[in-house]
Amino acid sequence: MAADMTPSLRVVAVSGGMQRPSKAAALAAHLLSRIADAVPCETHLIELGELAPQLAGAVWRTQLPGAIERELVAVEQADVLVVTTPVYRGAYTGLFKHFFDFIHQDALIDTPVFLAATGGSERHALVIDHQLRPLFSFFQAWTLPLGVYATDKDFADYRVQDEALIARADLAVQRALPFMVLARDGRAVRATTRLAA
Ligand SMILES: Cc1cc2nc3c(=O)[nH]c(=O)nc-3n(C[C@H](O)[C@H](O)[C@H](O)COP(=O)(O)O)c2cc1C
Repeated sequence: MAADMTPSLRVVAVSGGMQRPSKAAALAAHLLSRIADAVPCETHLIELGELAPQLAGAVWRTQLPGAIERELVAVEQADVLVVTTPVYRGAYTGLFKHFFDFIHQDALIDTPVFLAATGGSERHALVIDHQLRPLFSFFQAWTLPLGVYATDKDFADYRVQDEALIARADLAVQRALPFMVLARDGRAVRATTRLAA
């Protein structure tokens, strides 16, 4: 590692949106951009709508093409995850769950995870706490306390437009900063320990 032992943060977003363009993907891109404004990092956005044809038919990870395997590894090696999904029938999309079914069950331990969703209705805002949070609790990830929920009217031309939503996203990023720094420092300590061994 270079003289500066502090590695750049790897922030990976996964959008469960099936359509392209997608509001869930737009929300993920917005959060990535605000995180990048707040802390030095490398960002990467995975749109499951783009991977759907190759992802949907696989039952085992070994059946997946290399391009999807690389995305799974990117998620497993991320310092910070951002997950967004459109609400489908009161939950995350089926392909969102299918993607995370391929993630190794220990790979996200102690990884900070931003939880975010978009829906047609405000009535399904609790999808964040009733669907997304338990999934990432299974992975023993650090699900960040403040989720970000948007509805269709918060977007214009697939860009986040609503002021209250922008403020909520900024607050979520501010509240997440200590966790992101902990995740980065934890990686630096692990790298140093490996070098010393
Ligand atoms: C199959 C399907 C099911 C949906 N179910 C819900 C739902 O249960 N609750 C809700 O608020 N919106 C529901 N919606 C609306 C989408 O969640 C909403 O339009 C979302 O912002 C679309 O995001 P996208 O542009 O990333 O696809 C549904 C849409 C589709 C296509």
